[in-house]
This record gives sequence, structure tokens and C-alpha cells, in this order.
Amino acid sequence: MTWRVLRGPERAVLSFASMRLLNPASSFLRRPVASLLRLPVQKRSFADSAPLTPPVPETGAEAGSGDSSNSKQASFRSSLNEAELAKFSAIAETWWDSQGPFKPLHLMNPTRVSFIRSTLCRHFKKDPSSARPFEGLRIVDVGCGGGIVSEPLARLGATVTGIDAVEKNTNIARIHAASDPLTSSIEYRCTTAEELVKENTKFDAVISLEVIEHVADPLEFCKSLAALTVPNGATIVSTINRSMRSYATAIIAAEYLLNWLPKGTHEWSRFLTPEELVLILERTSVSVQEMAGFVYNPLTGDWTLSDDTSVNFIAFGTKRNE
Ligand SMILES: C[S@@+](CC[C@H](N)C(=O)[O-])C[C@H]1O[C@@H](n2cnc3c(N)ncnc32)[C@H](O)[C@@H]1O
Repeated sequence: MTWRVLRGPERAVLSFASMRLLNPASSFLRRPVASLLRLPVQKRSFADSAPLTPPVPETGAEAGSGDSSNSKQASFRSSLNEAELAKFSAIAETWWDSQGPFKPLHLMNPTRVSFIRSTLCRHFKKDPSSARPFEGLRIVDVGCGGGIVSEPLARLGATVTGIDAVEKNTNIARIHAASDPLTSSIEYRCTTAEELVKENTKFDAVISLEVIEHVADPLEFCKSLAALTVPNGATIVSTINRSMRSYATAIIAAEYLLNWLPKGTHEWSRFLTPEELVLILERTSVSVQEMAGFVYNPLTGDWTLSDDTSVNFIAFGTKRNE
């Protein structure tokens, strides 16, 4: 197929959609999304076809020490949706019950961590075969829940801060992490991304998995995530696509047929399509570079990375230095 030169994010979405329609077998897994979408990359012209090579960021950004370019205090609207938070507060005791309501997250976790490991190692020029490749990286896990993602990140060597708006969650996470010397250093705090921004705190990588579909305003939330990310740092977000398949699987099957999740855990209308997430992040100075889907195999119970983003998907972006 031939590419048209695109001059705006809306055209990027059109192009993205047409790429999938014209060539449904095309794989964008682990390929630079920005080049596929022809999104603007570091203020280059849309017509610029040079390969995307993000500058290697300086790692070890100090929490609490903002960079001078962004030192003016940013303030973002609250991300809190009390009705959504109440759902998580009600089941906080079950975070580490691998057969409980968070079973799908436990099953999905090795695949999520694998995507994070490979994208962060590539971006920060770390050795993915090393036992602790994230040594020297400061990572914040926004909406950490009981710490299902924070813990493996700490074991991979990162200095991890986990934040969640529900205090019961951070209490459970703290107690669980304390039982292992490799995770006991995780700092858990009951707070929100927008509150952390006020402290002018920044991280090499900001990770928020399965949270954006529960916040008050996705764009405002992403602004906070971006503000927490150092220039040229990484922002990783996962969520559920607003597709017919997600209605059938993530809601009807998971909540009503299989009883994996309490009924009402998810509201379909709050889900975002991959195109919407790309555009939202783009508006917050985060350029999505890679995207992948998670696909569940009901026969094996395993989740695998895939180019099928029709239900669960994850996006890796880098913060532009502007
Ligand atoms: C589906 S859980 C995901 C937990 C964890 N990220 C994971 O994937 O294992 C969503 C979490 O986001 C938290 N949360 C929801 N809205 C939030 C907000 N505005 N700020 C911080 N945390 C929030 C909830 O309390 C809950 O722990």
C-alpha cells in the first residue's frame, strides 16, 4: 500500500485504521508505532521518513528533583472517580489471592512484564539478558493496587514507587512486599499521579496498567503521567479496547459467565480504542512507539503478546523534550 503524507493526528488515526483494514495481517507488534502511524516525532515533519531512534535518556532521575525545563508547577484536575475506587476498596483483601477477582491480572502479569522488560531495555539501552536490567531506573507504578506489577519491576532492579488512590491497596501492597528482601525497598504511597506532580517528582519510566479505564478523565490523567516522566523517559499504559469483542469477553464472559470479576467491575463506555489512546498520549507530549495486544488462550489459560489489540492492549511511548 502507499502512504499519504499526513499532517495531523486525526489523519494518523485514519491511516492507522486503513492500514489495519487493507492489511489485517500486518503486524505492528514491536514495530515503531510512530513510523506506522506517521505521527510527528520530536517535531519532525510528517513527511520525514528517517527511522525513529529516540535519544538515549539519562537514567537515574532523582525523585523529588524536577528538571529545570519543567520546573513550573503543573496542576491537573483530579483523576478520582469515587464510584470506581469503591469497587477496588471492597475487594482489597483479595489482591494476592491468585484464584480471586484479580486472577486475570495474575495470569496476564508475566506477559505484561515481558513487554515492559523488552521495551524499557531497548529504550534505556539495558541488557535484557541480565538478571537485574532495570538497575539504575526509577519507575513509578500508578494505580499499583496490591503491587502485582511493582514487585517484578523491583526484582528486575528498578527503584520502584507504587501509588494508588485506595489506602487499603497500598497497605496490602506494603505488607506483601515486606516479606521479600528484593521487594521490601518498594515505596508505596496512597496518592494520585496529579498529587505527585505537585511535588515536582519525576521518573525514568511511568507505568499505569489497567487504570485509565477507571479514572475521571483519561486526558487529564495522561497529562499527569507525562508530567511525571523525565524528558525522553518512558510512559507505558495498558487498558481494554472499546470493541464488540471486549464487550463479549471482558464484560459478558469475564463478569457474567466465568465470574472472574465482580459484576460491574468494568463499564464498556469507559474503555479506549488504541487510536484514542495514541492521540491522548500524543496530546500530552508522549509519542507512542510500540503497541501490543494481550490474547488469552482458554485452552492453556495463558496470555501471549500479539498484534491483536481488539481486547487488551498495551502502549509504550516516550516523552518528547519540548
Ligand atoms: C484494575 S486495578 C490495576 C492494578 C495494577 N495496576 C495492576 O494492573 O495489577 C486498578 C487500580 O487503579 C486504582 N485507581 C483507580 N483510579 C485511580 C486514580 N485516579 N489514581 C490512582 N489509582 C487509581 C485502583 O484503586 C486499583 O488499585
